[in-house]
Order: sequence, then structure tokens, then C-alpha cells
Amino acid sequence: MTQPRAIDREEHNVPPYTVPDVLTTVDGVQVTTADQWQRLRRPEIVSLFQQHVYGIVPDAAVRVAHTVLAEDSALADTASRRQIRITLTTAARSTSMDCLLYMPKGKQAHGFPLFLGLNFSGNHTVSSESDIPITDRWVRNQPEIGTLGNRASEAGRGVMASRWPLQRIIGAGCAVATIYCGDLAPDDPEHWLDGVRQLFRDSQTPRTPGEAGAIGYWAWGLSRAVDCLEAEPGIDPQRIIVIGHSRLGKTALWAGALDQRFAMVISNNSGCGGAALSRRRVGETVAAINRQFPHWFCERFRAYDDNEAKLPVDQHMLLSLAAPRPLYVASAEEDLWADPRGEFVSTKLAEPVYALFGLRGLSHRDVPNAEVPDNAGDVAYHVRMGPHGITDYDWQQYLAFANRHFRQR
Ligand code: GCU
Repeated sequence: MTQPRAIDREEHNVPPYTVPDVLTTVDGVQVTTADQWQRLRRPEIVSLFQQHVYGIVPDAAVRVAHTVLAEDSALADTASRRQIRITLTTAARSTSMDCLLYMPKGKQAHGFPLFLGLNFSGNHTVSSESDIPITDRWVRNQPEIGTLGNRASEAGRGVMASRWPLQRIIGAGCAVATIYCGDLAPDDPEHWLDGVRQLFRDSQTPRTPGEAGAIGYWAWGLSRAVDCLEAEPGIDPQRIIVIGHSRLGKTALWAGALDQRFAMVISNNSGCGGAALSRRRVGETVAAINRQFPHWFCERFRAYDDNEAKLPVDQHMLLSLAAPRPLYVASAEEDLWADPRGEFVSTKLAEPVYALFGLRGLSHRDVPNAEVPDNAGDVAYHVRMGPHGITDYDWQQYLAFANRHFRQR
């Protein structure tokens, strides 16, 4: 007898469930055209996710400005590298985030496509180049990468380089930019309040039940980065891709949902609160994520702990908000915590929205074999061998997908 695949091991624990129909409005109207989708259903779904899952970033005028701190030749002279400080200012205060940008040398008529994503531990961890400043912001303690007392150190330089294959991205003719998520909100239940939230609320002011948590502020920060990067010489503002791994994959999906300037959305192993269906309740559940990371979602999301059936949305509806833009969801075979099958099923359930636009979904009806990417349509999916992570293999698929969709320009 053949062994069941790792991803099938927990199938017997999936309870019976029904997901909300992506094409039926709250008032019961059946959406049958792309125009109805854009006018009626899309805004409704965005608002449901704001109210019940990710929360809302307070509304206030923010001035966004940027300065290039340094511009150098990098990656054996194949790229130009810019370190850009983006300053965010409200009537209450001002803060900044630092963007590390690599761009191929030379010129393209409309500028280069850009992959934009947050990083977990500081820009200096993304590349071993010695002249990227070590972040002086709060970082999670990880003695193995030299972060102690919530401060980063030289020991962390380049430790995340395998997650950011810069040379490969540049070689594929794309630019890539990253920002430390802690510049926007430290990833910690206490310290996250000291991030960009302070532009709107002082840290003593408690959250309202519908106010954004860290994921909401991270996503907001990605859009502020686009405000600057879309005007940056050499970048094609029509081809900005949002990408993220894991908690930052949840963030990429939410940023892509809110901000349609992102021309493509990529979720890598984003799991619970990302691409995986909450109602399947295997791997990480809503209760588990709210318990361990009470600062990621809005407080109202806690009402759905062990109560997923009451959620007015599920994560296939988040994926559908990427339509009609190309969407790529990827899992890893051993990453059962993120529920690879749940990520696949919700991707399938987003297809009817792409169909409204005459766009093509996945070819597979069930999870494809490991490392057989299903990427010929406008919605793509693969499951990589191995554990949770973002690897060179994943990037190769994303670059090929981007290249296919963007090569016309
Ligand atoms: C934890 C968490 C996940 C998250 C992951 C990550 O495993 O439970 O929800 O995606 O960390 O960000 O690496």
C-alpha cells in the first residue's frame, strides 16, 4: 500500500463545513458580471475583512516623502542598489521606514517590474553586503542570529539571504525592494503599538475592536512604500508585485486586496489568516493564532475562536480580491501547520471570480504533486517539497510567472 502524502495525513480531522459563496452578496444578490463584482461584491468583501479579520487603520492625512540615502553598484556590478528612507508624517508625529532596493543595470522602456515585500529581521539580514546598516529598531530575540536584548547585531548580516535570491531576481530582469516589518510595527504583542500606529494613536490609547493589528499596519506600510516607489526612476509603476512569506504572506494578500496598484499578488506559505481556509480547522486554527499572536488581527477576530462557521468570510474571499490581477499561492509539503491543502482549496474557490473576467484558473482539481507547478493560468499554485520556508525553488516559479504575465510591455 502506498503511504498517504504528508498533506493528506490530517484530512480525517477536517470537520464538515460550508464556505460563504464568493459570488453571493450579503443581501443574496447573485453576482454574474465583472462589473457587478467590482461595484457590489468586492467592496462588500473588503469591508467584511476590515470589520472581522484585519481591522482598519485609522483615517488621517499622512504626508509621505522619501530620500535616497545611498546609491551604489551592487551584486558584482549587475545591479544598482538604493537605500531609501521613507518618512511618514501626520499632525501628531513622524516616523520612517528604510527600503532596500535593487534594480538591474540598464534601462527598460517602461521601467523594471518590482517585487516588493517586507522582511522579518532587518534589511541587513537580506544580503551579506557590509554597507547595509544594521537596524536599530526593536527585533525579536534570536540568539542564533545574534539578536539579544531586542537589538540586532553584526552576526545577523546576510542570515536571511537564502530567502532573497537577489542575483536570480536581477538576472530575471526584475527589481526587488524590501523593508523591515519592524519599521512599521514590531512583531510583538506589547511593542507593536510603538510602530506606525503612533502616527494615529498614542500607545496608551487602547484599540477599538475593529482597529487594525500588526498585519493591518504592515499592509498599510506596503502601500505607503508604493506611494514612493511608483515614482522612483527605473521602476514600472504598472508592474509592482507584492510578495510575502508566512505572516508576511498574510500581509501581502491583505495589502494586495486593499491596494489595486499591486499588479500581481504572491503568497508563500501564508497559512492561517492568509491563504488557508479557516473552516478546515487543521494545522493552525483561528483560536491558536489569536492566542499566540494577539496583536496580528483586529480584536473582533477573536469572536471566531473555535467558532469559524460564524465568520462572514473565509480566506478564499481574500484571494478573490486579487482578481483580475494574477495571483500565485504556494505551499510546502511538510508545512502542515499552514495547511497546504487548505491553501489549495481556497485558491480553487477563488476561481469563479477570475472566470467572471474571462480569466483562467488552475488546471488541477486536487493538490498537484510536489514541485509540479500549476501556473499556466492567471491563478497559480505549487506545493514545494520540504518544510516551511521561501526558497530559491519558490522564487524561480514566481519569476517565471511574472515573466509570462508581464513580458508584453
Ligand atoms: C508561526 C505562526 C504562523 C506564521 C509563521 C511565520 O508558525 O503560527 O501563522 O505564518 O509563524 O510567520 O513564520
